[in-house]
Amino acid sequence: MAGRILIVDDEKDMLLLISRFIAEETDYRVTTENDPRKALEIFEKTRFDLVILDLKMPKMSGIELLRQIKKIRPDISVIIITAYATIETAVQAIQEGAYDYITKPFQRERILLTIGKAMQWRAIVSENIALREVLGQTDAAPPIIGASRALKSTLEMIRHVAPTTATVLITGESGTGKELAARAVHQYSLRNDKPLITVNCTAISENVIESELFGHVKGAFTGAWKDKKGLVEEADGGTLFLDEIGDLNISMQTKLLRLLQEGEYKPVGSTRTRKADIRFVAATNHDLEADIRNGTFREDLFFRLNVIYFQMPGLARRREDIPVLSEHFMKKYALLYQKPARRISSEALHALAAYSFSGNVRELENMIERGVIFSRSDTLEVVDIFTSVDPKPAEAPEVSCNFLDMPFREAKEAVIKQFYRQYIMGLLEQHNGNISRAAEKAEIQRQYLHRLIKEAGLETEMFKRKYEN
Ligand SMILES: Nc1ncnc2c1ncn2[C@@H]1O[C@H](COP(=O)(O)OP(=O)(O)OP(=O)(O)O)[C@@H](O)[C@H]1O
Ligand SMILES: [Mg+2]
Repeated sequence: MAGRILIVDDEKDMLLLISRFIAEETDYRVTTENDPRKALEIFEKTRFDLVILDLKMPKMSGIELLRQIKKIRPDISVIIITAYATIETAVQAIQEGAYDYITKPFQRERILLTIGKAMQWRAIVSENIALREVLGQTDAAPPIIGASRALKSTLEMIRHVAPTTATVLITGESGTGKELAARAVHQYSLRNDKPLITVNCTAISENVIESELFGHVKGAFTGAWKDKKGLVEEADGGTLFLDEIGDLNISMQTKLLRLLQEGEYKPVGSTRTRKADIRFVAATNHDLEADIRNGTFREDLFFRLNVIYFQMPGLARRREDIPVLSEHFMKKYALLYQKPARRISSEALHALAAYSFSGNVRELENMIERGVIFSRSDTLEVVDIFTSVDPKPAEAPEVSCNFLDMPFREAKEAVIKQFYRQYIMGLLEQHNGNISRAAEKAEIQRQYLHRLIKEAGLETEMFKRKYEN
């Protein structure tokens, strides 16, 4: 049976326009109403599958109507229509449980697409497939471990906003799981059968970033001997994850703004603009508002990105997650390195819980990994985790990597991680620890090499004993 849609807007022209779009393209049954209070009465009596409502109405605000509707039927999908000027209210609406929002003026395709997705979502929910099952469908996103209040509320937020197409900005200190969260947003979205493309804004050098992102046409520059697709085109229909967006230079920020605003971009050397249907997720450990004040980040881009915002909590705010995270990493690395570690002594757990992790979960993970490598018995002791750290990592015992016993994703991750370590350690040795020269030789940005060093757990600080009893 065709679904039923209720549209509420005080402007009759708008009601007519939207119902015409729907009637031309779908067989949904549409009811329209220009008085929000009457709409509420109708809603109580009829079983609708979707409500579309305008935020600005004279007799009752859209937000209020949304609240009332959600009180009657918490599982109903609601799409909000808003003018650009009230985008903040739209965000509030999403947080109040709206499914998605559309800004005026909108195109026919945009509204039909959003309605289609909302109906699809509705079908999934009403077929009584538990949300968890939908979310657990594929194993592409690694699990996010932890049960602290701070993490739980972040996870709820992710689940809530994931099925919408709203842009998400994730901030947080380094190593808090921003990338993990971004992957979860994609995973829990209705786009999870389409690609998630990650752009590491620090890693791509400034002179190629534009063509990497937007592609180029044949002859655009020396060496461009044929057309090349950019990451944006590859992400079409899916999600584009802009990692470390705070590191993007101003001129790229401007081009990105256009993509976010109009869904349009131009391959390098082309005169034709192209369209892309993309959901954006961005992450940074910068304080973007400070960057705006310093003139290194565009304010308008910030507003575009900052539609749904959440911060990954640092480990200091969720110490109660340390034991379960430690266990998780111990199992992972014991399997990988075929080590006997099965448990962590209670002294070691206490020490970990009291430790100050400047690198958050990433640092904890690196320490446990090291501990597992150095452990000699089935119990990880304080000494394995904190004091066995060799000042010269190159002299760490040879470990055989047991990746055939691991699921593909984890094995791939582990092998890549080993490659990073070996490459970076070798590179630094070759250049006597001179980072500028090493970066030049590797043809990467200095900043990026710093990051890689940190990510591979090779920061000199890491080798110092920070734990004091
Ligand atoms: N809650 C968690 N459960 C399991 N693993 C986690 C969790 N949080 C982070 N990790 C692990 O810690 C490491 C760092 O996470 P991630 O790369 O997502 O952090 P980030 O915030 O993007 O860091 P950076 O700012 O340095 O880029 C990864 O190996 C990730 O798998
Ligand atoms: Mg990251």
